[in-house]
Amino acid sequence: MENLTTKNSSQFLNDVIEGLSSRKKSLSSRWFYDEEGSELFDQITKLPEYYLMRTETAILQKYARDITDSFESDVAIVEYGAGSARKVRILLDANNGIRMYLPFDISVEHMDRTVARLKQEYPQLLIKPVSGDFMEKGVNIEDIQGDWKRVGFFSGSTIGNLSNQQIAKFMSSARSTLGTDGILLVGIDLPKPLDVLMPAYNDAEGITERFNLNILKRANRELGANFDLGAFQHSAIWNEGESRVEMHLVSLLHQTVTIKNRTFSFKKGETIHTENSRKMSIEFLSKIIDDWTVDKYWTDENNYFALVMLR
Ligand code: TRP
Repeated sequence: MENLTTKNSSQFLNDVIEGLSSRKKSLSSRWFYDEEGSELFDQITKLPEYYLMRTETAILQKYARDITDSFESDVAIVEYGAGSARKVRILLDANNGIRMYLPFDISVEHMDRTVARLKQEYPQLLIKPVSGDFMEKGVNIEDIQGDWKRVGFFSGSTIGNLSNQQIAKFMSSARSTLGTDGILLVGIDLPKPLDVLMPAYNDAEGITERFNLNILKRANRELGANFDLGAFQHSAIWNEGESRVEMHLVSLLHQTVTIKNRTFSFKKGETIHTENSRKMSIEFLSKIIDDWTVDKYWTDENNYFALVMLR
């Protein structure tokens, strides 16, 4: 059997070399979420500036009954990027017709703890964790017991971190996992004033900076790279044309970094692009979801965030 850790680290190495070799340097955001990164992201979601988690949670709390009633059947929920699985609890508490839960996450250690806690709290619930990158693999249909209707839960505006091409791929893979009568519940971050938006990606405490820098720290630890963490700075900028926040790591000086036998040089001010977070309207979403259609949606009073039900 293939060793997952070895496979991951050679993929990580290939990705890093490819990303740093291109004219505009980049690193793929999937590598943020090792154990430390997942914990830092968890802290981000609790920051006062990070309105996303708070707002999406409030929408879920307010409309949990309405949302779960719309399932119109007993269901199995597949959560894409489950993290600490806080949000799904709100749905579980609102409706006992949720019979099975399949949390999908890239951070195995983080998920083991989450699942252990959930099992204690919801002894009736069947839980089947799926570890890995949901962009790379689907859910094994045989793992979904019973013939319950299948609901995908894609929260946190993770969809905004994907390119149109990745969204198309995700949507078709979700369709084959969830079936023709499947439902997909997607959280999107709506366009909003920049004085609300930008602090969410540049908090006063510097947790977002640590989260962004963790990808370099991970490359040092797992690939033997020699990034000087003090020589790169987190930067979040608004790209109006693309309606997205871009996360970068800015080189503070002219420097070189060595990874295995390769050397990469950075000019002062040159950046590594690490993430995009798109802010999209429901109309925009409805145009990029291919074989899915918007059925209904719920928002907060400020129209900051929306939970959209696709069928
Ligand atoms: N899905 C989250 C978002 O777009 C991911 C995220 C939050 C993030 N803060 C970040 C990614 C900072 C990189 C850097 O809001």
